[in-house]
Amino acid sequence: MKPTWWWQALIGLCMALDALAGAPPAAAAGDAAILYHNYCSVCHGDKGDGRSRATGALSTPPRDFTSAASRQELTRERIAAVIAHGKAGTAMVGWKTQLSQADIDRLAEHVHQRFVLGQGAAGSPAISGTHAHGGREADAASTPPQVDMTAGLPNGLKGDLRRGGAFYLANCATCHGARGDGQGPRAYFINPKPRNFLSADSRARFNRLVLYAAVSEGRLGSEMPAWNKVATPQQMADVAEYVFRSFITAPAVAGTSSVPAVAGTPR
Ligand code: HEC
Ligand code: HEC
Repeated sequence: MKPTWWWQALIGLCMALDALAGAPPAAAAGDAAILYHNYCSVCHGDKGDGRSRATGALSTPPRDFTSAASRQELTRERIAAVIAHGKAGTAMVGWKTQLSQADIDRLAEHVHQRFVLGQGAAGSPAISGTHAHGGREADAASTPPQVDMTAGLPNGLKGDLRRGGAFYLANCATCHGARGDGQGPRAYFINPKPRNFLSADSRARFNRLVLYAAVSEGRLGSEMPAWNKVATPQQMADVAEYVFRSFITAPAVAGTSSVPAVAGTPR
């Protein structure tokens, strides 16, 4: 038997250690860069240019901080205000329940200096803390950053799994399938096809934040509706939580056709 489980356990452990090693040492120089990495880059991209894997899911794309328009409009104060309060009608939610005022100020300074004015690289070192384990800095430069799968829901919302499940079955399963595999009864008639939440791509991309944004905003040019007109933030939080816990992070089920079987996984 090929013991794949311990391999997965090992990877999990490495990721956990990584998360620990990458945790921001209080008030270290790289602080703001880490905050940005954890909370913002999932939408605005590592380079602040709005290119990210979430962009395609949002009807209003995330702001490109490096554009000429941003340079004109985005003062440090405005950036801080937007981080705190969000921007109505977009996936840009307010963070003031999750970040302290000091963190918000640091982040605003970072975004302004590094991306809007474009002078960051010299003054702000790349995310510190990666020094701790050899080799990762080189990796960080070449491979796209991991989406932070521990990110919570926006605005301090807490999703309720049970209510989310009921909402999902009533509103989403017809397209995405009760098992989240994208094979709901309506899927056959739809193009592009509803997202399969069990795919490796979905598992790599969809944290709670991105799920919430995708549910809220819908997806232009597809049959994925924007739910923010008809559902409350709490309902959207519930269903995002349900999709996250039941499909995205659920252990892959051996023998489920839509999940690429891991070689050697016992049936
Ligand atoms: C879920 C995706 C998402 C995340 C996460 C996110 N943003 Fe945004 N952000 C957006 C969208 C969408 C807009 C609206 C774009 C527009 O209207 O031009 C936006 C707009 C902005 C703006 C410009 C607002 C204005 O005045 O026009 C700033 C500044 C900003 N975000 C900073 C941040 C920072 C800093 C973080 C991390 C704390 C962050 N964002 C996290 C999606 C996101
Ligand atoms: C009428 C069919 C339909 C319904 C109902 C529906 N979706 Fe979708 N959904 C789609 C389609 C189609 C896509 C794929 C769009 C694409 O790939 O461009 C999608 C994509 C998504 C995505 C991924 C967005 C991305 O970045 O590709 C998420 C997350 C999602 N749906 C969640 C939900 C949830 C949660 C519900 C219930 C509240 C729901 N959907 C209801 C059809 C539907």
